[in-house]
Amino acid sequence: MDISREFSGIRLKNPLILASGVVGNSLQKMIDAYRAGASCVVTKSTSIKPRKGYPKPTFYFDGVIAINAVGLSNPGAEKMQRILKNMENVPFIASVFGKNEEEYVAAVKVLDRAGPIGFELNLSCPHVKGYGTEIGHDTQLVSLIVEQVKEATRKPVFVKLSPNTEKIIAIAKSAEDAGADGVVAINTVKAMMIDAETGRAVVSNRIGGLSGEAIRPIALRCVYELYEELNIPIIGVGGISKWEHVVQFAMAGATAVEIGTAAYYKIDVFREILSGIKEYMWKKSLASFEELVGLSHRI
Ligand SMILES: Cc1cc2nc3c(=O)[nH]c(=O)nc-3n(C[C@H](O)[C@H](O)[C@H](O)COP(=O)(O)O)c2cc1C
Repeated sequence: MDISREFSGIRLKNPLILASGVVGNSLQKMIDAYRAGASCVVTKSTSIKPRKGYPKPTFYFDGVIAINAVGLSNPGAEKMQRILKNMENVPFIASVFGKNEEEYVAAVKVLDRAGPIGFELNLSCPHVKGYGTEIGHDTQLVSLIVEQVKEATRKPVFVKLSPNTEKIIAIAKSAEDAGADGVVAINTVKAMMIDAETGRAVVSNRIGGLSGEAIRPIALRCVYELYEELNIPIIGVGGISKWEHVVQFAMAGATAVEIGTAAYYKIDVFREILSGIKEYMWKKSLASFEELVGLSHRI
């Protein structure tokens, strides 16, 4: 039974990837995820200059939903690049962000020295050029960033999409046309939670990103719609915590998946999901994981 994945110029021993950011900048936790069965890990999003992020509290979890507003804290590309050199042969995708195309390119060039197998462009952060809108809502800016990053590296480039726009398909198409090797869907859903006792928002930034179980149907819908329109591979992410969810994402059209919130509490989630997938494939007499990809579009 073949659960390995080969797409966009990368080879993975299985479809499970640790999503960006949930273990922060911890090298040890990224290595732990790999040892627990993830085929590769995505780093915390890194910018060319260090960023402090927001004050605590930055993360809230009530057992069902999670909201975070970390504020993209990171040590900057130079320091991150030195940290990542100690990855102990764990395959990793470097996630980068910036406020314009120059900053994306600069971060990619520095992080390339640490030997990532690819790059993930986090396009869901505020920028200055568009007067306070987000990069991930601006098709022209997405094209420009992808084109320039593609010129700056020979590694595959994945574009991580924001669900907080009605233009997700148009954004993905502009990334594809500009040469992106794949897309990652989705980042967190803009959300808020208030403590009924105190009246205060649960994260210091007040507004944050919703992740975990609650966003799975949104992410699944995005992957399904993207699969109908794109010719490049889709990595699905959002609310995956069980093997059934991975099967659902594959059927919607995901070539591989990322796991975030579920790994935050239980790094062993990768091992459990892998054994569930293998048992499912054995019961269904599936020789290859590939047979599941896009299945719901064919029935
Ligand atoms: C604490 C936390 C930090 C995150 N940091 C990042 C980040 O730096 N870059 C990014 O692209 N996504 C980040 N994400 C989003 C996740 O990578 C993922 O897209 C999202 O949480 C949905 O997946 P999940 O429901 O499995 O967590 C973060 C999520 C959480 C919960």
